[in-house]
Amino acid sequence: MPLRTARNDTFGVYVHVPFCVTRCGYCDFNTYTPGELGIPQRASLAVDAPRRSSASLSPSQRLSSPVLQYLDALERELARATERFRLPAADTVFIGGGTPSLLGADGLTRIVNAVRSSMGITPHAEVTTESNPESTSPEFFAALRKAGFTRVSLGMQSVSEKVLAVLDRRHTPGRPVTAAQEARAAGFDHVNLDLIYGTPGETDDDVRRSVDAVLEAGVDHVSAYSLIIERGTAMARKVRRGEVEETDEDTLARRYDLIDQRLTSDGLRWYEVSNWACPGGECRHNLVYWRDGDWWGAGPGAHGHLGDQRFVNVKHPARYAAMICQSDETLPLKDIENLTSEERHEERVMLALRLAEGMDVDHLSSSAAAKAEEFITDGLLWRPSPNRIAVTDRGRLLADGIITDILVSDDT
Ligand SMILES: C[S@@+](CC[C@H](N)C(=O)[O-])C[C@H]1O[C@@H](n2cnc3c(N)ncnc32)[C@H](O)[C@@H]1O
Ligand code: SF4
Repeated sequence: MPLRTARNDTFGVYVHVPFCVTRCGYCDFNTYTPGELGIPQRASLAVDAPRRSSASLSPSQRLSSPVLQYLDALERELARATERFRLPAADTVFIGGGTPSLLGADGLTRIVNAVRSSMGITPHAEVTTESNPESTSPEFFAALRKAGFTRVSLGMQSVSEKVLAVLDRRHTPGRPVTAAQEARAAGFDHVNLDLIYGTPGETDDDVRRSVDAVLEAGVDHVSAYSLIIERGTAMARKVRRGEVEETDEDTLARRYDLIDQRLTSDGLRWYEVSNWACPGGECRHNLVYWRDGDWWGAGPGAHGHLGDQRFVNVKHPARYAAMICQSDETLPLKDIENLTSEERHEERVMLALRLAEGMDVDHLSSSAAAKAEEFITDGLLWRPSPNRIAVTDRGRLLADGIITDILVSDDT
């Protein structure tokens, strides 16, 4: 089936960087360690030396061959996708991982330049990279600013040494806050810190101290995720063997409230169930996803969405690069899914009702709207304006259940 051209409103580009120095015990993202890529030594990824000026190293000194292969393939994917789908210029670019900062400022600059020379980047675009605190430095952030990045997202997770150990995180407890401050000093107005709560063995006080550290860093965006015990991870095996215990729902709810209250009293406001921002600090790229926008997903395992179609690339970097090399036209796609109008509707409702702005009630069938009315009566939904519905503070923690109930009652 021929692919459609992207709609011409806010358009995003996601680039996946599938490399990490080691795998954190809870993570099931599409990422590979040097050992898994057949690179014998950690040093041979060579881009993760903290505080080393990336400007003093040539790309070939810094990048191992799987990484160079990946960058070559990525440039070709972006150019081919743009030509084939006549993609518009990107209003948002998000480089995620994996650990994008492992590529150093040179590698990330190469990626952003590849987006610029393929679909283009609009003048006031948001350009974000995720970074792991231990592979950043003041020089790294300064070079990112020069390359046109406007936002940095850092994985902090917790300030507690004990919690970081359970999560198998490598950075020292204080490094994320320092890295965030370095990013701000380099001129980044938009900096995010990611927190995880509900790690086995964590206490309320650990969470309190983590949020205080986030506030001390002065960032304008915070994401706080409840730990998901993903199947097949080292963490799931530990839970199964009884070595660690999953956190119960009541404790999770209490920790969410604690995070929410502390962030809110410091001027951040929730705009998605797991995301808080200062006014103007909302992540525009994530809003593209949540508002049912269009984006191209480049890199191994990346997902994209154009109109009624969803795309997913092959996951392994070697397979990804091999597919790109097959011919001058091939895209590294594993699957193209044609979404039915029902699937699109469900996806829209699921995403919109996790947002503070909620959704237009006219998009619901009369039976689903009647169910929404019941939730309004119960105080779990409210009307921010006459024809919109959104979750209340009490409804936020129950958002997924509310959404399921509304979708189940849809009789169209
Ligand atoms: C996949 S990571 C990529 C960024 C970077 N590598 C890092 O770890 O900071 C993005 C974020 O997803 C969150 N995350 C990953 N796995 C998770 C899980 N199993 N449960 C909850 N949050 C998770 C973490 O907060 C992490 O910072
Ligand atoms: S550093 Fe990030 S992407 Fe890599 S394994 Fe850890 S959580 Fe996953």
